[in-house]
Amino acid sequence: MRYLTIALAKGRLAKKAMELFEAIGISCEEMKDKDSRKLIFTNEELGMRFFLAKASDVPTYVEYGAADIGIVGKDTLLEEGRKLYEVMDLGIGRCRMCVCGPASAKEMLKHHQLIRVATKYPRIAKDYFYNQKYQTVEIIKLSGSIELAPIVGLAEVIVDIVETGSTLRENGLEVLEEVCSLSARMVVNQVSMKTENERITRIIKAFQGRAEERSRL
Ligand code: PRP
Repeated sequence: MRYLTIALAKGRLAKKAMELFEAIGISCEEMKDKDSRKLIFTNEELGMRFFLAKASDVPTYVEYGAADIGIVGKDTLLEEGRKLYEVMDLGIGRCRMCVCGPASAKEMLKHHQLIRVATKYPRIAKDYFYNQKYQTVEIIKLSGSIELAPIVGLAEVIVDIVETGSTLRENGLEVLEEVCSLSARMVVNQVSMKTENERITRIIKAFQGRAEERSRL
């Protein structure tokens, strides 16, 4: 049997995603060894293998068919804009994409002043300001710790993920506008959806069954 290959976005999401797979009877013991430097983990009995990749690379692996399935945040899907099927909202990793900054930036936003926006998500930020708000801004791409930008004066506001809000609070920033809500999604390669339809559908149905069970509790 051909391996069904699953790409998981590294980090917080991967752990939660593996718990979801375990709950539907798909486990991968090999993956639990924290000291291992292995990159790919196999479950021979199920004919499945899992690998961890940088979140922004997961849609790439899935589009090219190197992974049949990907588990990744909606933020990454919106930013990468890859050709794939988004088949399911897994309901984990819920958070919001927001415009944040010091309270003093509120007025600048309101009056459509030419502000600088720092973000790890230039495409999402561009779409929000240009196509939804019809507001011209300067977008500055950063790779992490985005909250630093307004503090040191690189930008007036940021577009970033807010989960608990504690990073903002601890740095004297606040949510100024909400762009969209986010959560983890299951995505599928367009060819695999046909060639591996039975196995993939079984997984989707098991996840759905599990979600229904939990909503009844
Ligand atoms: C994300 C995001 C915020 C933070 C939000 O960063 O960019 O900084 O989490 O979470 P909170 O609202 O619960 O404080 P992440 O930790 O993924 O790392 P990064 O700063 O390198 O992007």
